[in-house]
Amino acid sequence: MQFRTIIEPFRIKSVDALKFTTRDERVAALAAAHHNVFLLRGDDVLIDLLTDSGTGAMSAAQWSALMQGDETYAGSRSFYRFEQVVRDLTGFRHVIPTHQGRAAERILFHTVVKSGDIVPNNNHFDTTRANIEVEDAEARDLVIAEGRQPALVHPFKGNIDVDALAALLDREADRVPLVMVTVTNNSGGGQPVSMANLRAVRTLCDRYAKPLFLDACRFAENAWFIREREDGYHRLAPRDIAREMFGLADGCTMSAKKDGLANIGGFLAMNRDDWAEHCRNLLILTEGFPTYGGLAGYDLEAIARGLEEVVEEPYLRYRIRSTAYLAEKIAAAGVPIIQPPGGHAVYIDARALLPHIPPLQYPGIALVNALYVEAGVRAVEIGTVMFGLDPDGREQPAAMDLVRLAIPRRVYTQSHVDYVAEAVVGVAAMKDALGGYRIAAAPKVLRHFTAEFEGM
Ligand code: F0G
Repeated sequence: MQFRTIIEPFRIKSVDALKFTTRDERVAALAAAHHNVFLLRGDDVLIDLLTDSGTGAMSAAQWSALMQGDETYAGSRSFYRFEQVVRDLTGFRHVIPTHQGRAAERILFHTVVKSGDIVPNNNHFDTTRANIEVEDAEARDLVIAEGRQPALVHPFKGNIDVDALAALLDREADRVPLVMVTVTNNSGGGQPVSMANLRAVRTLCDRYAKPLFLDACRFAENAWFIREREDGYHRLAPRDIAREMFGLADGCTMSAKKDGLANIGGFLAMNRDDWAEHCRNLLILTEGFPTYGGLAGYDLEAIARGLEEVVEEPYLRYRIRSTAYLAEKIAAAGVPIIQPPGGHAVYIDARALLPHIPPLQYPGIALVNALYVEAGVRAVEIGTVMFGLDPDGREQPAAMDLVRLAIPRRVYTQSHVDYVAEAVVGVAAMKDALGGYRIAAAPKVLRHFTAEFEGM
């Protein structure tokens, strides 16, 4: 028999009860959280799609690896296992553990970026952008034009605009310390980058003698998309595709909370000896000794095992298919989403769904809050609140106002996903009743995490 149903490639051995709340309780909880779902208590959320970061379920093999953790301060056995796995996967000489992705970004950018520099990327994610701007440098997004049009179908909407990158390097190469590419492109909809695009970026980097770094949080999902969509890769193992991706780069930052299948951790890896030495010194200052970098020995074990599991074919087939399944249900009901769906999340086009709410009244927040109140589902705005505030304090609409339904890895079953689809379709049906928000209080940097909102 040929089966069409793609099943979860695991069974459940330990469960975590969900707490059900009433609509009235959720209205009160959201008001107490100043209408910012980041400020809710997790227990008041039924299905939590805020992020796919650190929220995945570890395997039995990972849990047992924890017991192998060696907590030696310097030279821990767990570090050498971790280093070996990362080296085998990426090929990078220097492997520097960090407590999560943004610590790797902070250390890299503080080491190599100076005031007035420009760091190009397809799209910088929030912490990446903030860690560049804090150095008084510019984070420039150069995703292809197709990547900014939610409804337009293109196999690799995460690709960098190679002509725009060439023009930047041609005019201002001396201001560019490195080129970054985010795989998959989270702020652009979890969209993949093709191997051909990475190769073209590599060629440009060679011409201008610039290092190329991957923001590799979701490298395995990107590798799967290459396998499915790019000629010549259909028969290759995802791991070999990932190795080819890393082989085109000089280094990477990584949040192991995504495709490391771990609850915490990350790393910075690179080939350049002088940069690595500086980074290690900074690591000691802020994270810890270079053989643990802010992590316990058991975290290093869990990540090492996670990096092996994440490139397994049955896992990636299920992972990408289950995201597409949610997307298809939502899109079939006429809710506008980024097409095609990304790897780790479905992104609803809140600006298109709620045209009566102008971007500066945050349609994404309106939709996120309604999803919580009506269904207990927590999503996240990726739009004008997250990206609309320039470093000079001016506010303008972000390129898109999206609401992301991020899917934790190996956590929710198909009926959970069916419930989410029903919730989204139900809330979309009441869209005319939704109103905009204003910001009552917010910090200057990364305001989305702690801003307080008021209904208009
Ligand atoms: N780069 C990308 C593309 C990310 O998506 C994230 C985190 C980071 C870097 C930073 O990693 O959280 O370990 O410090 N993204 C999470 C999200 C938080 O919800 O998308 P971190």
